[in-house]
Amino acid sequence: MSTAQPIPGPVTPARGLGRLFIRKSLQQMQSEHESSGLRRSLSSLNLVSLGIGCIIGTGIFVLTGRAAAEFAGPAIMVSFVITGVLCTFVALCYAELASMLPVSGSAYSYSYASMGELVAWIMGVLLVLEYGLAASTVAVGWSSYVVSLLQDVGLHLPTRLTAAPGVPILEGGTVVALGVVNLPAIVAVIAASSLLVLGVQESANANNIIVLIKLSVVVAFILVGAFFVNTDNWFPLVPQEIPAPPAGTERGVWADIWRAMKNVLSGQNASQYGVGGVITAAATIFFAYIGFEAVSTAGAEAQNPGRDMPIGIIGSLLVCTALYILTSAVLVGIVPYTELDTAAPIAIAVNKMGMPWFAILVKIGAIAGISSVILVLLYGQTRIFYTMARDGLLPPAFARVHPRFRTPWIGTILVGILASGFSGLMSLDALVDLTNVGSLAAFAMVCFTVLYLRITAPDWARPFRVPFFPLVPVIGAAMCLFLVMSLMANAATRNFFLVYLVGGMAIYFSYGIRKSRLARGELVVGAEPTMDLPKRLDI
Ligand code: ALA
Repeated sequence: MSTAQPIPGPVTPARGLGRLFIRKSLQQMQSEHESSGLRRSLSSLNLVSLGIGCIIGTGIFVLTGRAAAEFAGPAIMVSFVITGVLCTFVALCYAELASMLPVSGSAYSYSYASMGELVAWIMGVLLVLEYGLAASTVAVGWSSYVVSLLQDVGLHLPTRLTAAPGVPILEGGTVVALGVVNLPAIVAVIAASSLLVLGVQESANANNIIVLIKLSVVVAFILVGAFFVNTDNWFPLVPQEIPAPPAGTERGVWADIWRAMKNVLSGQNASQYGVGGVITAAATIFFAYIGFEAVSTAGAEAQNPGRDMPIGIIGSLLVCTALYILTSAVLVGIVPYTELDTAAPIAIAVNKMGMPWFAILVKIGAIAGISSVILVLLYGQTRIFYTMARDGLLPPAFARVHPRFRTPWIGTILVGILASGFSGLMSLDALVDLTNVGSLAAFAMVCFTVLYLRITAPDWARPFRVPFFPLVPVIGAAMCLFLVMSLMANAATRNFFLVYLVGGMAIYFSYGIRKSRLARGELVVGAEPTMDLPKRLDI
């Protein structure tokens, strides 16, 4: 390309310790997305729709029940409010970054342009949990609705093939078997990965239709369900904590909140019911909110990024927050919270309404809606690997594009194999907790990035600015880390996460640090299009 010109050197010196903090220049980032050939075709409404398409899935259809039954009781509504507020703070931070760096690649790219390569790598490692592992998690939720729907039409899959090894399978509140493998979840991931390898073409219309189906199902559940709510089920809003606090412990709302916070910070959250339970439930149902940040990956395609990105990110989040609070209120109003620890709680509530046709409609809608989330998350994961491989931090195979399908097929197949394995063999609880820890840590880093760039690059143009700076990013990061700590009280989650991070660092120090194309001076402004594949999946 005739316009190719060397980038004016890394922003920080590529020697010694400074090497770890080498940054992409703003010029480099812009060059990458200008040469990407993306059309600026997405309106703010398209972006809101894109966000809702990615947000509503297994979280609301499955986890609400578990979080109410195991942790919060009817106060699950309060948990949704807490996490909604947290995500709004993070969304504002994403909106600022997405409007000033409207590039594809999201949080990984923001880190590369701000805090440098090592932090970008850590972000990439966390995003694998937020996208790849989240896809496995969503597939497990998909599986439970498919099993429930098939039962409604008289088809019974072998019970042991519908849950991960050792997971108890309940029927009517009694354990009938232990799972061996979750076959439907594996099938879902393989099907979605195959579509991605074949290069499913983007279609904003298809996305809008799926979003319409999802919204109709959720709104219909709220409106019809409201007539079946027994308000007695809402009280006590916060059931007594189990085990009860020792005699003589000071009680009262503020004393309980203070004690629960201290428990979280000291790593011993007593998480069933009481304020501690509300906090653990808030961390669990955080999963339901993941997805609003996916809007930021479409930055290069927004008609007017400075205006449309904040509307897309914050708009989709606000719509979903309102729906989630109402859905959880209706759910625990129809079914006593103690009965909600099932794989398909909304289905239980709908069955209770005694309208079999409505139950089938809701389940079909849930399955359609959840399917699109699996596809979008897997897509996100393959594109993150693609971008990292183009930067030299991962082996080039991840960026190899199939000559006919124009998709990064090797990376997609690998992601598909791993994600299907996790979905078939890991329990929903373990998957959710790990996805949440990774995503919350990534979100905290996004809040820090806003702080960092305001200080180190005050002159960069910011079409959208976080209001009440620095309170919003500081409180956002603190809330994320607080919820991470509440999840880390579980030793299995803590150990897996720490080993995972150490493993990720080992890969960087044995591979990425040597192969980084930025450090080798191989990235050239205008030299190559970043993406020569189907750009974005709007399914
Ligand atoms: N928020 C998405 C879901 O709940 C990941 O499925």
